[in-house]
Amino acid sequence: MKYSGKNTSLLMSLLLFGLAISCQPINRSNELRPDSTITEGEGVTFKPTPVSLRQPSNFPQRIYPIEQNPLTTQAILLGKSLFYDSQLSRDSTISCGFCHQPFAGFVHSDHALSHGINSRFGTRNVPSIQNMAWSRAFFWDGGEKSLDSLVINPLTNSAEMDMAFPEVLARVQRSPKYPGMFKAAFGSDTVTADRFFKAFSQFVLTLVSADSRYDKYVRQEPGGSLTADEVAGLSLFRQNCSTCHTTDLFTDHSYRNNGLAVSSINDQGRYLITGQQKDRLTFKVPSLRNVERTFPYMHDGRFSTLEQVMNHYASGVTNSPTLDESLIRNGQLGIPMTEVEKKQIISFLKTLTDTAFLTNRTLSPN
Ligand code: HEC
Ligand code: HEC
Repeated sequence: MKYSGKNTSLLMSLLLFGLAISCQPINRSNELRPDSTITEGEGVTFKPTPVSLRQPSNFPQRIYPIEQNPLTTQAILLGKSLFYDSQLSRDSTISCGFCHQPFAGFVHSDHALSHGINSRFGTRNVPSIQNMAWSRAFFWDGGEKSLDSLVINPLTNSAEMDMAFPEVLARVQRSPKYPGMFKAAFGSDTVTADRFFKAFSQFVLTLVSADSRYDKYVRQEPGGSLTADEVAGLSLFRQNCSTCHTTDLFTDHSYRNNGLAVSSINDQGRYLITGQQKDRLTFKVPSLRNVERTFPYMHDGRFSTLEQVMNHYASGVTNSPTLDESLIRNGQLGIPMTEVEKKQIISFLKTLTDTAFLTNRTLSPN
């Protein structure tokens, strides 16, 4: 089973169109506008507390259109409750947080392939969901364009949460706790798809990791000192890795083939979305933030250590028509590195561990 590739956009436009026809102009002094379907209880209990989305000074401009879903304490709290609620899966065993674990940088620690309901396995490694406000497209193949609607995929995927989407909304509506939380967040206790999506996005958007020792080093903040080996590793990283793992997000959000040998799963990556030969075996360049904790590595979790990753780039790169040209140097495959250089790069990668983020209680289940 592939995780993405379901066309959610048609469903989305139907849902949104349904909402749009009941649209009525609302004028409020509060700059936060509730969504367009508010009919009941207006102005009574709806006093959302605005929260601003952090923009770390060393990050590029964010992509998510935050003005269409301004953050509030109430909607973030609702999103968090939903995120950690296993009732959203068919047999009430799997929540988003089951696969996206806070202490592991929001991946499924030590699981190569995604693992969902009835111990069914998917075909891909769980990616981190930190700093999503800066992403243009989602999933290893970029098959999903909208952070808001992508939750339909894990909720309905038979190897993940395995629910029919209308049933998810009905369950949430029936639960004793959620209608009140929807009212506090959106001014109405009716659980609509639009509000449900927005609440998830609100929580996910707060997963900003930007306080590693490396961040403090580049922002010249207290606690930002690097050892000689780490500085050497940073400089080697900039020479060898930052064509793809670029900016302080450590990804240029492009799709590339980094020379992994094709496995028995035979995942063709971005090609599954575009159908173009040039995209065969290309995958989204992942961010390397908290990489010390996000093992195992690559789209199928084939490597369990950073040493294996370094050995891959140094001597394991496999040639194919779509291999990225930056991995062929003077006719040789891969990135030449000595054992000392590999160790120095690994020391640098570990400076991207953001302990404050990984142990932030407000992001973990209560
Ligand atoms: C069974 C494990 C599992 C569950 C449960 C799960 N996910 Fe995921 N998630 C994944 C996998 C695997 C991917 C990558 C899919 C792909 O590339 O095709 C992913 C990708 C994502 C991404 C995109 C990350 C990126 O950088 O592209 C987001 C955001 C996300 N999930 C949020 C959620 C939310 C919200 C929920 C709950 C509604 C959820 N996930 C439930 C396994 C899971
Ligand atoms: C040609 C572009 C490119 C270059 C150069 C490159 N990478 Fe990557 N890197 C990728 C892509 C693409 C992936 C994901 C591949 C996949 O899973 O199929 C990746 C994955 C990784 C991962 C796994 C991350 C995870 O969460 O699974 C690590 C770690 C990594 N690279 C480190 C490095 C280091 C260190 C260097 C320099 C020695 C480097 N990369 C050079 C493109 C590149």
